[in-house]
Amino acid sequence: METGTPESRSRPIKEEKDICLLYEPPSPYLDLMTKALVGSPRAGRCSVGRKSKACLPPHDPYNSFLRRFGDDWPPYGYTMIGIERLQSFMSAINEVNRNHVLGAIMEFGVWRGGAMIMAAAMQKERGTNRDLYLFDAFGPVGGNSYDTLHGLGRRNTYVWR
Ligand SMILES: C[S@@+](CC[C@H](N)C(=O)[O-])C[C@H]1O[C@@H](n2cnc3c(N)ncnc32)[C@H](O)[C@@H]1O
Repeated sequence: METGTPESRSRPIKEEKDICLLYEPPSPYLDLMTKALVGSPRAGRCSVGRKSKACLPPHDPYNSFLRRFGDDWPPYGYTMIGIERLQSFMSAINEVNRNHVLGAIMEFGVWRGGAMIMAAAMQKERGTNRDLYLFDAFGPVGGNSYDTLHGLGRRNTYVWR
């Protein structure tokens, strides 16, 4: 049974979406990649509130709403961000390609790398050849872990020198 459907989370209205990034329906290949990367074929989920034991079985039942927006901690798959944010990322790549903007694609904080796997899949399909740079701390940084900072509400304010 599906649970957790906060009304505050919804797709942007059509007009709003149209003036931001252009949504393109994914090809069968990218649609399959999306499903594999967000972990939907194997299903299963771990709740955000149990992060430290997130990937130990048994998992909570798969919740497609949480996975859609990336509001859970998926035991399977390669990206946390969920279908909607993955599509937004794809739209951003389409946008720079469409406008012939030069440059690489970089992601800071890749987790299992799923978003950049999608970037690579798009390059393969579209024949583009941008450099891809992936960064991650893969653990505590400067004595402060991501979770600690997140818990303190300072997620976006930490500067590592
Ligand atoms: C929410 S996850 C990223 C999700 C990822 N973008 C995806 O598609 O699944 C946050 C990631 O950022 C990394 N991270 C957190 N703080 C960092 C830092 N200061 N420097 C580099 N990586 C960091 C964590 O190790 C973790 O992999």
